Amino acid sequence: MGNHDPHPSKRAGAHHRRRRSNGPVLALALVAIAAVGILAIRQYTGMSESIAAETSASENTLNIGGPFTLVDQDGQTVTEANYSGRWLLVYFGYTYCPDVCPTSLTRNVDAIELLGDKGDSVTPVLISIDPQRDTPDKLKQYVGLFHPRMVGLTGTPEQIAAVAKEYRVFYMRSPGDTPDSYVVDHSSLTYLVGPDGKVAQFFSHSATPEEIANRLKQRL
Ligand code: NI
Repeated sequence: MGNHDPHPSKRAGAHHRRRRSNGPVLALALVAIAAVGILAIRQYTGMSESIAAETSASENTLNIGGPFTLVDQDGQTVTEANYSGRWLLVYFGYTYCPDVCPTSLTRNVDAIELLGDKGDSVTPVLISIDPQRDTPDKLKQYVGLFHPRMVGLTGTPEQIAAVAKEYRVFYMRSPGDTPDSYVVDHSSLTYLVGPDGKVAQFFSHSATPEEIANRLKQRL
């Protein structure tokens, strides 16, 4: 507009009106942001429910998981083929996680330990959804705190996005006080991956070590 505006006097008026309407506009924007947030949560909740429905419908043919290319805690490029023939307890999280991740990883290791010698055939795995900060070295230190056989996997942001999509894992950064102190909101399911590389079952954050061990016993 500018040069071609036939009503220059109205521009001043419009500007003035806009200033006065800042309050309602701000309120509308907040409502819109809240609506988007609620939609995101509902979409996420709906996704969990749909996975749950699939599980109960047919436990052995869960249509989640799939091939991946990632980097392990020793800096080696790995794919799903590196783990074929083994049972995996896979958790998506990150080393800077303040609470949920350590709890879930400890719980998964406890479940494996409850199986005694049989537990040797199950590998606990952490796939990082924070590849920017979770370098192989960082992961190596971290997974070693939980279990000598725990595998830590990271990769490029694109590789992580791809594997998260296959497992229908949700993750999203929330800013922290400094650019490097962000937290990552993420789903907290643990996936049992069978020797065929397919997800056989998943466990919620609230499942106990005993419950997981009992389900594993039925399958190993
Ligand atoms: Ni976490």
